[in-house]
Amino acid sequence: MDAIECIKSRKSIRGFKAESVPRDLLMEIISTAKQSPSYKNTQPWEIMIVSGQRKQALSEMLLGLLAEDAPISPDFPEPKSWPQAQQDRINHLYKMRSEATGLDLTDPALIRKSKQNNFKFYHAPHAIYLYQDASLSPWSIFDIGLFAQSLMLAANASGLGSVPQAFATDYAKQVKGFLGIADSKRLIVGMSIGYPDMTLPINQLSTDRVPTEELVTWLE
Ligand SMILES: Cc1cc2nc3c(=O)[nH]c(=O)nc-3n(C[C@H](O)[C@H](O)[C@H](O)COP(=O)(O)O)c2cc1C
Repeated sequence: MDAIECIKSRKSIRGFKAESVPRDLLMEIISTAKQSPSYKNTQPWEIMIVSGQRKQALSEMLLGLLAEDAPISPDFPEPKSWPQAQQDRINHLYKMRSEATGLDLTDPALIRKSKQNNFKFYHAPHAIYLYQDASLSPWSIFDIGLFAQSLMLAANASGLGSVPQAFATDYAKQVKGFLGIADSKRLIVGMSIGYPDMTLPINQLSTDRVPTEELVTWLE
């Protein structure tokens, strides 16, 4: 697979086969992702891979917190509002996802169900958390985003599926406690990773993008 095909064919995968990914393969894609650029080569990424019983227990903890309506405390709060252009794209995404799954994602009961699916890591065999020292500057958040994309591309090139998950950081304090990550770190994003189950309707969804002409300003 060439780089262009890899970028264009990556998409979020929200349903997985039960089969575990060999540790060597996970290490290989992380070794590839670490070639990402970073501000002054600071490489501000730390990675936790959670599998097996620990992943099961993590999911149970998150589902339990959701069930008791425990207040969320992500290190990066979910935006309360968006500029109109972004809100329009969110509405469009929800419409597409509703069409793909037959479920109305604005229905509060389904929002809860969606969180549950996130907390189960979409039944992926592995959950990954990316985190970094909380004292790092916003440039380091930018850097870890580059790392995350490289990781997802390396996964795609290796036949794996992935989805980045802000929701997986809802209970950041409890997740850090559970995983043994120091409070001085900030949890940037969670991720589900494994072999994709392409028979599932949710994995048929391909999101679209605004036309390139709308993004670019040319000055000559
Ligand atoms: C920072 C970030 C956070 C995200 N959080 C979630 C999440 O919590 N749950 C989820 O199912 N998808 C999540 N996504 C996936 C986006 O919904 C997805 O990337 C977007 O709709 C575009 O679709 P695509 O990845 O299939 O191209 C997140 C993506 C990013 C980049």
